[in-house]
Amino acid sequence: MKTIGTNTNLAEAILQNHNLLRVIGRFDIQPGFGDVTVGEICHKKDIDPVFMVVILNSFLDESYFPAHDLTRFSLKQLVRYLQKTHDYYLNHQIPYIQELIDRLCSGQQPENAGLKVVNKFFAAYCRELNDHIMREEKVTFPYVLGIENRFNHPEESETGIPDYTIHHYETEHDNVEEKLNDLKNIMIKYLPQPFDFDLVNRIIAELYWLEKDLNEHARIEDKIMIPKVRMMEAALKLHRH
Ligand SMILES: [Fe+2]
Ligand SMILES: [Fe+2]
Repeated sequence: MKTIGTNTNLAEAILQNHNLLRVIGRFDIQPGFGDVTVGEICHKKDIDPVFMVVILNSFLDESYFPAHDLTRFSLKQLVRYLQKTHDYYLNHQIPYIQELIDRLCSGQQPENAGLKVVNKFFAAYCRELNDHIMREEKVTFPYVLGIENRFNHPEESETGIPDYTIHHYETEHDNVEEKLNDLKNIMIKYLPQPFDFDLVNRIIAELYWLEKDLNEHARIEDKIMIPKVRMMEAALKLHRH
């Protein structure tokens, strides 16, 4: 796949991979944007084009790494983007899947109690996802923003090595998307008849989509946020030896 640049036509990029629509949605760009390049829409919407290009490419290409662009955008905008994605999972994607599951469980007359296991597993998954996201929002992101602040204003900040560094995040950051496998397995292997097959199909498709999106989200955390914070920590000499 071709790398996206500021001269790339946005509509053409989306025609090649419609999943980018969800990404640009997090920058408040919606369909109907016209015949514009990535650079033009960034200018119009007051978005940093370097950052936009980094996000679009890392979404499309697993091996993409913006080595020399890493210093050209702020952690503040990266964190804002990650928070928007969290918000999308918790307030749109998860409630939507829950609605489909509720419909599946209540749709059979007489009731098929066996379908309730789907609800139970999904509830357990939602708790894990919620914990994962809350830990990032309450611990990691404030730390990341603090480091950038310290990096930009070294004269004002306290010295000393903090208890929590990006190294801790790196070791604790788990693959929350992989845990969707239990639920997919149950649905594919053990779902008791009778049920609405079209609805089951839709739920499984949504679970796959969520898994893929979470994967891309985690890649931005691991491959862009961590190296960028580590660079600042190194400059501030915050690494223990
Ligand atoms: Fe996250
Ligand atoms: Fe994460």
